[in-house]
This record gives sequence, C-alpha cells and structure tokens, in this order.
Amino acid sequence: MWGLLKERRARIRGDTKFVSLYLPNNFINYRRILKFDQTWLIVILLFWFFCGFVSNNWLTEIFVCVTGIPILLKQYKYFKNLRHFFRYEYETDYKLLNFIQEADLDESTVIVYEENSSELLVRFLKSNNPTLINQLENLEKPLASVFGITPEKFVREQYVEYIFTLVKPERLMVTATEKSEFTDDMNINLGYGIVYNPVKSPHVLIGGGTGSGKSIFISFFLIELMKRHATVFICDPKNSDLGNLEHYLDDHVAVTPNNISRVTRLVVEEMKKRYSIMNDPMNFKYGSNFVDHGFNPLWLIFDEMGAFQASATDKAGKKIVEETMANIKQIILLGRQAGCFILVAAQQMRAETLNSDLRDNLGLRIALGANSPDGYRMIFNAHTPPTDSFPDVSVKGSGMIYVEGSGESQAKYWESPFIDTTKFNFIEELLKYKTADKYFSE
Ligand SMILES: Nc1ncnc2c1ncn2[C@@H]1O[C@H](COP(=O)(O)OP(=O)(O)O)[C@@H](O)[C@H]1O
Ligand SMILES: [Mg+2]
Repeated sequence: MWGLLKERRARIRGDTKFVSLYLPNNFINYRRILKFDQTWLIVILLFWFFCGFVSNNWLTEIFVCVTGIPILLKQYKYFKNLRHFFRYEYETDYKLLNFIQEADLDESTVIVYEENSSELLVRFLKSNNPTLINQLENLEKPLASVFGITPEKFVREQYVEYIFTLVKPERLMVTATEKSEFTDDMNINLGYGIVYNPVKSPHVLIGGGTGSGKSIFISFFLIELMKRHATVFICDPKNSDLGNLEHYLDDHVAVTPNNISRVTRLVVEEMKKRYSIMNDPMNFKYGSNFVDHGFNPLWLIFDEMGAFQASATDKAGKKIVEETMANIKQIILLGRQAGCFILVAAQQMRAETLNSDLRDNLGLRIALGANSPDGYRMIFNAHTPPTDSFPDVSVKGSGMIYVEGSGESQAKYWESPFIDTTKFNFIEELLKYKTADKYFSE
C-alpha cells in the first residue's frame, strides 16, 4: 500500500511515467497489493477477536466487538473504493499496457508518457529492432481507437512521439469589459491554448497579407498591453487603422518617416536611461530586470514595416530608414531586460525588411492568413512545419503561431482572438486604460 501511495506522490510531483511489460510499476500489481493488505487486515482482526474471547472478561469481549465489527464490515467498501481509485489513477498505464499486447508490439517495448489537463504525450522508445521501429512509426490509427482522439505524430531519433490534444483549443472571444481591468500579470492569453509572456519571450513578429487580420490582432494586443500599464508607441507608415489613434494617444503615434524615426529614437533613449539606472551601483541587483526596478513595460508597435522601407526614395529618406532600422535592431537585441519591447508587422518578411538573425530574436511569431512555404519559412525559420502539414487557414483571423521557449518545436495552427467589430468599440476600450497617471509613465 505504501508503495502505491509513494508512487502516486512521485507521479503528482511530475516524475516520468514508464510503462512496460518488463519494467512493471506498482500498477501491474495494484490488485494483488490491495488483496494482500486486505487479507492481512482480516487476519489481524480475527486475532483481535480471538484475544478478546480468550480473555474470558465480558468487558474486554464487548470492547473487542465494538471496535472490531465496524472495521470488519467497513473494510470491504474501503478496499473497493481503493481499487477504483488506483484503477482510475493508472487508467493510462492500463490502456498502454493493453495496447502493447493488442497491437502485437514486442514485449520489450518501453513507453514513457506525460499527462496534463490539455495534453497526453506518449513516447515509444526505439530499440535496435527495425521491424519494431517500423511498427512504432505507424500507430496513429490503433492509438486513436484506444484514446478516442487522433494524435499528432513526431518521429525522433530516439523515440516516436504521439501527442493527443485532450481539449479542443478554443478561440478567445473579445468582449467589452464593464470597467478597466488593470493587471500586473505579464501573461497574455491569446486564446487557442496560447499564453504569451513578453518577459520570457520578448518581441513579436506578425506576417500576413492584406486583410489577414494583422491590424485587428494588434488592436487586441494594444489593449492587453495597456491593461499591464505599458507605455506604448505606435508607428503606422500607411496611416490607416492604428494611425487614427493619433487623436487619442497624442504624440505616441507616428505616421510620417521623420516622426517614426523620432519615436524609435525615444524608445532607444528610454532603454539606455533604464540601463544606466539599473546598472548604477546604488541600484544594482544581480539578475534583476525592469520589473524589479519599478519600470513599466515599454512597447513600440510598428505596423506595415515593409511600406515604411519602401517609402524611402531619395537619399534623405534612405538615411531616415537606416537610422530607424538601427534603432529597431538595438531594441530587439538589448530591450528585454530593460522592458523595452517591439512588435513588428509586415505583409512579407523579406530579408530586407528584417534580416533573419534579427527575426530569430523575436519571441512570439505569427503568420496570419494564407502564406507561401517561403513566406512561412521567413517567419518561423527552423520552426516551420513540413509543407504537407500547413493547416487550412480559411477561418478569418486564423494562421500559425510559435512561441519561443514554449517547448514546442514547430509553429502550429491558431485562431487569433475574435473581435466582433460591430459590437466592440475599440476606442472606448482604449480610453478606459488611457488614464493620465498610468499612460504617461515616463
Ligand atoms: N480576429 C478577428 N476577429 C474578427 N474579424 C477579423 C479578425 N481578423 C480579421 N478579421 C476580419 O478581416 C478584416 C481585415 O483585417 P485587418 O486586421 O484589417 O487585416 P490586415 O491588417 O492584415 O490587412 C477585418 O476588418 C475583419 O473583418
Ligand atoms: Mg492592417
């Protein structure tokens, strides 16, 4: 019994779970262990009654009966509940062990699995046996019939991994809130099972053609940033959706090349100022970041970056673009610790737009709408899924997403937060968070 409980505690702690006919864990024996414990309890009880009766003392006999009989009656139910409990706890082990036999896999097959509320990850370790390896790589169908969900398959050098998504990810529905909802939680829920934390994976890259939903997503993101007391600067060289915010966010919105350059310079200056304060020996805290020094996040949102670069036709214009891009490079490479972040959106992420080394430094990467294989590669680089597994993105505002450090190796399908533009008044929402003290935090 203690063995079972100990193993359960280890599982709750997150220890790896092995399933194999040759490496039996306590589960294989749980019925026997419980039967053994039950037999022992009955033997002890009988001995207890025996002691009572041989005592020849009516007081002792009554005491023995009053204590022993309820235990004797209750123990059946108690052990039945325990059996149910462990059967439920080891449900997955049970299914996988059965699976090894039913799928006719080699008896030496070893399976490792991990389970949380949204995912079940099952790894079949490879051995040297080529027939077995071949078998292990083709288990989607039989596994789907055991678990009722079709898994995603990943063939790795050491093992074949099948991932079952237990809950269908749900698109976030954005609705107006009654009053402002400021928060200090840096985690931003992007829906569809994705949570983004800029402190862990700084900076954002969004690619996608016209009408794919870039501006809608940026609007949603902007409000999420303002809920987190962020200071936000906006560059919209096409002076479209975001440019209109000029009337509400004043000189934090730039649409002309000169102004865009000025805004990026402001962010770089603020970043340098923060570093000099953070590195001052008087304030120095080892391993600290902007939050520890009481700074709010500072965001530069840059929509339609390609259009900005294309706008430079003469020498002066090219110089402005060059300066701006140099500022952006500094923010990408140095911004994180100082809490200075950037979001870059463009229709196409060409090397001239942002070179691939810099792109790889952007923690959250999103491709909205349909993109060419090259288009996806420009955004996700090494994390691009194989061409034949690009998802269908016919749903408005859907695409692929990749969060650096999330543990996933490839970008995956995602639907951006849904905003019903006929009901959701973006400006009204924005104004809830543009309070004088919070907004102008510099
Ligand atoms: N997340 C979304 N929720 C609701 N509608 C969306 C969403 N994304 C895109 N759309 C629809 O697509 C249109 C174009 O989106 P937009 O953000 O302007 O694209 P882009 O900036 O990429 O050109 C929007 O006006 C809206 O009707
Ligand atoms: Mg747009």
